[in-house]
Amino acid sequence: MLSSLRVAISRQAARHQAATFNTAAIRAASTWSNVPQGPPAILGITEAFKADKFDKKINLGVGAYRDDKGKPYVLPSVREAERMVIEDNLNKEYAGITGVAEFPPLAAKLAYGSDSPALDRIAITQSISGTGALRIGGAFLERFYSGDKKIFIPTPSWANHKAVFTDAGLKVQPYRYYNKKTIGLDFEGMVADLEAAPQGSAFLFHACAHNPTGVDPTPEQWREVSRIVKKQGHFAFFDMAYQGFASGDTDKDAFAVRHFVQEGHQIALCQSFAKNMGLYGERVGAFSLVCADQAERKRVDSQLKILIRPMYSNPPIHGARIATKILSSPRLYQQWLAEVKEMADRIITMRALLKDNLEKLGSKHDWSHITNQIGMFAYTGLTADEMDKLAKEFSVYATKDGRISVAGITSDNVGRLAEAIFKVKG
Ligand SMILES: Cc1ncc(COP(=O)(O)O)c(C=O)c1O
Repeated sequence: MLSSLRVAISRQAARHQAATFNTAAIRAASTWSNVPQGPPAILGITEAFKADKFDKKINLGVGAYRDDKGKPYVLPSVREAERMVIEDNLNKEYAGITGVAEFPPLAAKLAYGSDSPALDRIAITQSISGTGALRIGGAFLERFYSGDKKIFIPTPSWANHKAVFTDAGLKVQPYRYYNKKTIGLDFEGMVADLEAAPQGSAFLFHACAHNPTGVDPTPEQWREVSRIVKKQGHFAFFDMAYQGFASGDTDKDAFAVRHFVQEGHQIALCQSFAKNMGLYGERVGAFSLVCADQAERKRVDSQLKILIRPMYSNPPIHGARIATKILSSPRLYQQWLAEVKEMADRIITMRALLKDNLEKLGSKHDWSHITNQIGMFAYTGLTADEMDKLAKEFSVYATKDGRISVAGITSDNVGRLAEAIFKVKG
């Protein structure tokens, strides 16, 4: 009896020891030991900038507006709208799947125009800023687009486009857009690629202020693109992250979108209120699809909801309430338009100042692309080595592709920046 009890105890002890050993073995090879280190993202620039002790260092890597003192800027119209939202003392209940109810129709009016005949057949949802809109759009194409599950994006494009569409399950293919030699648009290449793509292909277009190049087609070139897209039966997918930020005029910047709709294209559109309202961290955006009629809109609407619900259930409310106040109050709306223009004008002025300073220093290069380009970013044409030199020798930080954020230039630092570029490039 006693001996069988001893056997049982020692067996149990052995089992316990084995179990402990197994757990330890599993722990030694952690559940995530197979996860590889990813490459450093754009944030590498911010880190290098922070580590630099030079007091006149310049950060031109940030994709956010800065005022002429180099400080983040909250628009006065946004401050006032936010105060009004707080005074409304609203509850914090969930929004619907497609967002704060009043917001999407107002966003649609801003993009498509308040007199657009398409307004009543646009399926639209609030989104988690522009990136979220792109993600919904990618997922919608993946689920319902009857052509190839593939989207053509310009070369180059905003770095996140490829990742967003790939993660949404689409294949991504490049089309020609930028001409390195002219530091301008490769319109012939773009047209040739539009013509050569299989009929019914989906094409992503930056509606205005192309990121990263700052190079946009002219209205006449957009008309031509529209004609070819129609002839080839392609699908136009617009990303409009900078409405108002390019020219300072929200109507002018929406030209391509409105022209395509007028020409009968049933476009997709991603909107962001990050830049034009400075609502970056509030994550306010919209995704819309122009439908054939109201019945189709109703069906598309229902599928947008089905798609969004398991992604994030419903979007945040605070930023959309602020945007709603601005877009629905005639007085605040006018004030906001003036403030957008002010931001765009400061950027346009900094472009001119940079070019002037380079010319005054005696640079032999043609810098007219700096003022021909538009929006927050300028493609300088500087090589990766030259950008490296700018950072290491002159404490000027920006991405290796030669892109600088013009929003980071101020009246105070433009002279030093021009000198640094002149010393590196001549
Ligand atoms: C071309 C383009 N699309 C979309 C976005 C998305 O921005 P967000 O998600 O902050 O609205 C950006 C931001 O830099 C952009 O440049």
